[in-house]
Amino acid sequence: MNRIDFSHDTQAAAVIASYYDAPPLAYVHSYGCQQNVNDGEKIKGVLMDAGFGLCNKLEDADLILFNTCAVREHAEDRVFGNVGALKSLKEANPKLIIGICGCMTQQPTVVEKLRKSYPFVDLVFGVNGIDTLPALLAQKLQGGKRLLQTPSERYDVVEEMPVRRDSSFRAWLPIMYGCDNFCSYCIVPHVRGRERSRKSADILAEFRRLVAGGYKEITLLGQNVNSYGKGLEENIDFAGLLELLCAEPGDYHIRFMTSHPKDATFRLIDTMAAHPQICRHLHLPVQSGSNRVLAAMNRRYTAEKYLELIDYAKEKIPGITFSSDIIVGFPGETEEEFEETLELIKKVEYMQLFTFIYSKRTGTPAAEMPDPYTHKDKTARMARLLAVQDEIAARLARQLVGKSYRVLVEGHARQEGALTGRLDNNLIVEFAGDSALIGQYAQVYVEDARATVLKGRLD
Ligand code: SAH
Ligand code: SF4
Ligand code: F3S
Repeated sequence: MNRIDFSHDTQAAAVIASYYDAPPLAYVHSYGCQQNVNDGEKIKGVLMDAGFGLCNKLEDADLILFNTCAVREHAEDRVFGNVGALKSLKEANPKLIIGICGCMTQQPTVVEKLRKSYPFVDLVFGVNGIDTLPALLAQKLQGGKRLLQTPSERYDVVEEMPVRRDSSFRAWLPIMYGCDNFCSYCIVPHVRGRERSRKSADILAEFRRLVAGGYKEITLLGQNVNSYGKGLEENIDFAGLLELLCAEPGDYHIRFMTSHPKDATFRLIDTMAAHPQICRHLHLPVQSGSNRVLAAMNRRYTAEKYLELIDYAKEKIPGITFSSDIIVGFPGETEEEFEETLELIKKVEYMQLFTFIYSKRTGTPAAEMPDPYTHKDKTARMARLLAVQDEIAARLARQLVGKSYRVLVEGHARQEGALTGRLDNNLIVEFAGDSALIGQYAQVYVEDARATVLKGRLD
């Protein structure tokens, strides 16, 4: 790992300024996970540093950038569809620059497809090129030719990058990049490269700036936050990092994702229990309840080991809630194995589940495994799973009625005059209140729960 500081590119900014009559506008859209959304915020920050303004309408843009996700086929198809729709904009405005970046463009086949079938795409760069974007744009503006970079791996951690955050009170704070786990179905390690942790001093400095800037909710990000610290010169792990951050005074709370169960420790749970700033909510993706499937997924824990962690957390942190990702229809998953997942879900009682039908990713080991079940079988399983989960979540939500909670007020609800607030456990409550409360903490009494939609009033 090589730590470098971002520096303003004066030359590139001058080229960009000389090319346009008025300050150019950029439209940036990020797909995928929070890490990618945070990358999108950096892209916007870097573009603004290079003289761009931002716009929300494709039609107003001088530069359109799609920051893409490769995790499932559906995600990729959606991007190709949306890129195709840009052709007419380019025809209407030949000066328009269209760029594609992010996880999809780390795959040579995707870059080839963009090269051959999408001639109106001007710029392609991977997940690690954000700090070099002004220079790339300047090169494109001066040379005119398409710049489609072939994916490369780069292990630098770039600090001090300008960030244009989407929210003024909720912030993403990456603590590590990449993933070394190679779950057999997953493309992320192939596109995001090897794990690199940020130095704790850099994380702490950004954390302090966020707290001083009035950010209330700070979410620590990593594909596997529990392996934070590996490879750093300093001796620190994720629980240690949480301790360090929680020592900071201020009015804030901390979330984190994602925790990989193989590296989650009792110490992590003890740390959560000891610090009221850490939300009593644990996103601990189990993926499957079957030990045979878990082994085939290369997850490196068993259902029993997972349940031990959950039981320990329930005991140490009263009121804690859990969420998880589940893959339905992993290659060869049998009816019995699927039912083991249902059993596990009933035992844990998750507040929220993020459920996915297995999607084949070329280049991963699971793509080579026999997959005898049809898509129809898998959607039927998914429907059964969702029915079980809906019942559990509704029951848990009902238990929240009749009590008062501190929430972070996030925005307007659909109903006129109503606001939405997020509880510690990640559920949303709707209540009547003044817009001035948005971005602040409020105390809300929960009066009713319809499925997992909570209704309340200011307390
Ligand atoms: N690092 C995180 C997950 C990142 S990807 C973790 O390990 O928990 C988010 C979720 O997408 C995964 O948890 C998994 O449930 C799902 N996913 C990843 N690859 C997939 C694939 N090929 N098909 C279906 N779902 C997938
Ligand atoms: Fe993918 Fe597994 Fe890494 Fe998560 S831990 S990003 S599922 S390889
Ligand atoms: Fe998608 Fe890349 Fe995140 S593949 S889920 S955007 S790390």
